[in-house]
Amino acid sequence: MDLNIDAWLNLALRWAHVITGIAWIGSSFYFNWLDSRLKPPSTPRQGIEGELWMVHSGGFYRVEKIDVAPETIPKELHWFKWEAGFTGITGLLLLGLIYYHGAALFLIDPGVADLSPLAAILIGLAVIAVGWFIYDGLWQSSIGKDSPGLALGICLVLLVLLSAGLPQIFSGRGAFMHVGAALGTIMVLNVWVRIIPAQTQLVAARRGGTSPDPVLATAAKQRSIHNNYMTLPVVFIMLSGHYPFVFGHSWNWAILLALFAAGAAIRHFFNLRNKGRNNYWLVPAAVVLVLFVMVAVAPRAGRDGQGEVNFAEVEAIIAQRCSTCHATNPTDENFTEPPGQVVFDTPELIRRNAQRINAQSVLTQAMPLGNMTEMTEEERDLVGQWVRAGAPIN
Ligand code: HEC
Repeated sequence: MDLNIDAWLNLALRWAHVITGIAWIGSSFYFNWLDSRLKPPSTPRQGIEGELWMVHSGGFYRVEKIDVAPETIPKELHWFKWEAGFTGITGLLLLGLIYYHGAALFLIDPGVADLSPLAAILIGLAVIAVGWFIYDGLWQSSIGKDSPGLALGICLVLLVLLSAGLPQIFSGRGAFMHVGAALGTIMVLNVWVRIIPAQTQLVAARRGGTSPDPVLATAAKQRSIHNNYMTLPVVFIMLSGHYPFVFGHSWNWAILLALFAAGAAIRHFFNLRNKGRNNYWLVPAAVVLVLFVMVAVAPRAGRDGQGEVNFAEVEAIIAQRCSTCHATNPTDENFTEPPGQVVFDTPELIRRNAQRINAQSVLTQAMPLGNMTEMTEEERDLVGQWVRAGAPIN
């Protein structure tokens, strides 16, 4: 009996990661929105900063925001930290399962850098850990405290360096995921190391009748704004594994940064709108940016294939470069069944999959996975010619 533990573990972790991620992002969007819509009570009440009425699922709700902190802290106080915590834990486990356990498949591309799995994994973990220490150290330092503009500039430069540097070490997909993991880790630790402790201290100060340290509160607010802007870009990275035309492109890092900018711009639009300022230009600007990327990454018309393409040659290429995995009985030791149920056992199956073959191994280099079977540029060109000639098999 083959229980297929890897695949089930993958499913369970991904499911949990998406659910906890929705809970985290959902509550954070909700509180952002709440903060922006609260109005001072029509007849001022002692200690109430703002209030708001809502109707949802057939019930009416009134929320009040207390000025700084209540005189006495209620016995039962709800915190929001497990959403972030579990998103982080499931995310790291998923990273370990897919990109570290399967390092040879998803993390390493020998055409980029011929790393051993151990070296690749250590680099990956170091990027995530060092990313946090640099980020946190910077914002805790006098630069972060006194010149936030400069600190932000440094962070953006580091983000560009990271995005441009990782595709020189990892497969496109592995590089993207490590940018996401580094930012995601920063977001989770912002909650756990900076935001929650500031709140704990606020509660303790109120209970002990002392005044809380405003520096902690300011840092917490700053980190929560950072998290807010990172949300949409990080969600894009979570989804990016589905899109080889993005991560498999030779300008993948530039595309990543452009889509990042678009995501942050949309977030900025909503942040301003929540404050009652409508900067509508941000939305078309983000759309234009995405359209520009779409045109820029569109594959150039393929090198013109003159003459007949001999299907026997294509068949031989597929057999050598793809069928180690994509066969009813794969010979690649990593697979007991054809990945994605994609099989190229017969000419007819190859013909039927021509467009997918084109998408994965000609227009992008997403396949062969990690170029494990060392497909050459000439072979990709030849397969492309065959597809453009209408994929004839005789
Ligand atoms: C080392 C194993 C391996 C080799 C070699 C390989 N693939 Fe794949 N292929 C995979 C895996 C794993 C997946 C599933 C990818 C995923 O989970 O994202 C896949 C998925 C695919 C898909 C489905 C993608 C989709 O989302 O629709 C196509 C098409 C494909 N491969 C084509 C090819 C072609 C063409 C070649 C040869 C040029 C090739 N593969 C070589 C492992 C391999």
